[in-house]
Amino acid sequence: MLSFARRASPLAFSARSFALRASAASVHTLPKLDYPYDALEPYISGEIMTLHHTKHHQTYVNGLNTAEEAYAKTDSPKQRIKLQAALKFNGGGHINHSLFWKNLAPASGDGGKLVDGPFKTAVEKEFGGLEVLKKKLNAATAAIQGSGWGWLGLNPETKRLEIVTCANQDPLLSHIPIIGIDIWEHAFYLQYKNVKPDYLNAIWNVINFKEAERRYVDALKEADAQTA
Ligand SMILES: [Fe+2]
Repeated sequence: MLSFARRASPLAFSARSFALRASAASVHTLPKLDYPYDALEPYISGEIMTLHHTKHHQTYVNGLNTAEEAYAKTDSPKQRIKLQAALKFNGGGHINHSLFWKNLAPASGDGGKLVDGPFKTAVEKEFGGLEVLKKKLNAATAAIQGSGWGWLGLNPETKRLEIVTCANQDPLLSHIPIIGIDIWEHAFYLQYKNVKPDYLNAIWNVINFKEAERRYVDALKEADAQTA
């Protein structure tokens, strides 16, 4: 018995080391912002940005790591199924917010400026101009019952820009995300209280259209690759 334990021990240790290495490799971390917390003022306050990034997004990151760690530790299909909700909620929260920080920029920089290029051309073709896009995306986002996200996404089949909404922290899977608007109360309530339209109108002053154009160009290539 003892000799078996001695022979088995190095294998067990090796497996545990591998599991630890695999676990360490998949740890998610909070991404840094490209701008200071108060850089989006007066449209989004520094207080909102600080709490949103350091508390809310960090909580999704922690929840995702915890869920993935628990998933890796079990071979039980039942236990893994039980973890699906936590993986979707926290994983979606991490994905959505990582996209959100990048699709914002200070108004003193790239924020709010849609310049000539392929994205502006597509917005004009699909919506008749930026003002119509704003109106339609704001209306769809404001109409979400409870918490969720409004998206401008590229339909990978038609390669057209479309407005889509997602509930809770569900990530956008049907389309390739171009611009996302967080309509959870934590994104606006400290500054705009219950007046969602004021938040939705204000956020366009800090939308990073340069990032939107980069995503649009990449999305077209991704869609081409999918249909090739
Ligand atoms: Fe959020």
